[in-house]
Amino acid sequence: MVLEAIRYQPGSLQILNQLKLPHQEEYDEVRGSEDGWHAIKDMRTRGAPAIAIVAALALAVELQNNKTSDVAEEVKVFIVEKLRYLVTSRPTAVNLADAAGKLEKIVTNAASKPDSDGTAVSKAYCDAAARMLIDDVSDNEAIGQHGAEWISKKAGGGQVSVVTHCNTGSLATAGYGTALGVVRSLHANGSLKHAFCTETRPYNQGSRLTAFELVHDKIPSTLITDSMASALLRLRGPSENIAAIVVGADRVAANGDTANKIGTYQLAITAKHHGVKFLVAAPRTTIDLSTASGADIVIEERPGKEMTFVKGPRFDGVDLDLAQVETVSIAANGINVWNPSFDVTPAELIDGIITEVGVVEKGSDGKFDLTLAMEAKN
Ligand code: MRU
Repeated sequence: MVLEAIRYQPGSLQILNQLKLPHQEEYDEVRGSEDGWHAIKDMRTRGAPAIAIVAALALAVELQNNKTSDVAEEVKVFIVEKLRYLVTSRPTAVNLADAAGKLEKIVTNAASKPDSDGTAVSKAYCDAAARMLIDDVSDNEAIGQHGAEWISKKAGGGQVSVVTHCNTGSLATAGYGTALGVVRSLHANGSLKHAFCTETRPYNQGSRLTAFELVHDKIPSTLITDSMASALLRLRGPSENIAAIVVGADRVAANGDTANKIGTYQLAITAKHHGVKFLVAAPRTTIDLSTASGADIVIEERPGKEMTFVKGPRFDGVDLDLAQVETVSIAANGINVWNPSFDVTPAELIDGIITEVGVVEKGSDGKFDLTLAMEAKN
């Protein structure tokens, strides 16, 4: 069975509610842009590529199920306004803003044709939004293959282990995944010894979602807490042949600085200290050449209760009752909380940026030049 975070057919969009995973697998109906905005904000759907695709498709189903206008220009204005609203749901991942910009161009172009009408503009939008779902899977498969080949080559062949952070798999994308796609490709090529996934506090994307995907795909894997990464590299790195830490990205700035899930930066530091490669895997829709460096990236801050409460099935000390999921406080009442959702890893700590067109490495000047990759054909 393939893990499907997003189920779409014209007129119908459903998302796997990631707040309920791994205990319950429930799909929520998304009926339009407002539903889509809330699903993203509440993190029922998450991960940079998935956020962009769900937002785009949420508006597509709204257009498919509701009559807007026969006038091309009016439908264009309606779509552009909704796209701008959807972009406000979460600020750090650039994929949504990138998708909105591209879709805006498509509808502007469709509306400017001489015989255009509302139906034609709406159709141009919906076709492009549906295309994103298909393209994302093939981009991820290419990222997986490029990353796996790069890691195997640098390691000189044989089986390697890797560490990954947060969730970058089928649940964060249209399917297969980016950094987790690299893990999947290593496994498919017979080159994976073991995958280690971090818990990813405070939202536990690692223990709830990545672990769920690894178990689902029967990939040999072990869960660690975020604070165990350095000890893992020191104590088990050599015996497990840990060759790389591979993470996803929410925004890669023009100089290669990368915003990703909180905790990524400390992983890059420990990778450097232990001589382990540190790789960022992301489709080019995550690369933002208009953002010069990490200092210009807006970091979302999430509610403190994501840190001070956890959710899980009731446990009576002997038995787990999966049917009864409860929320438990795990922090002293009244404590101040700082909960940035992402951090920025400086380019100097990154060995390669894996895209669907290949792995970008630094030039002889020690800097990334991402422009060639952005211009390359798939
Ligand atoms: O807050 P989240 O769960 O949306 O954060 C997700 C990440 O940071 C991922 O690493 C990133 O979006 C890439 S997903 C392919």
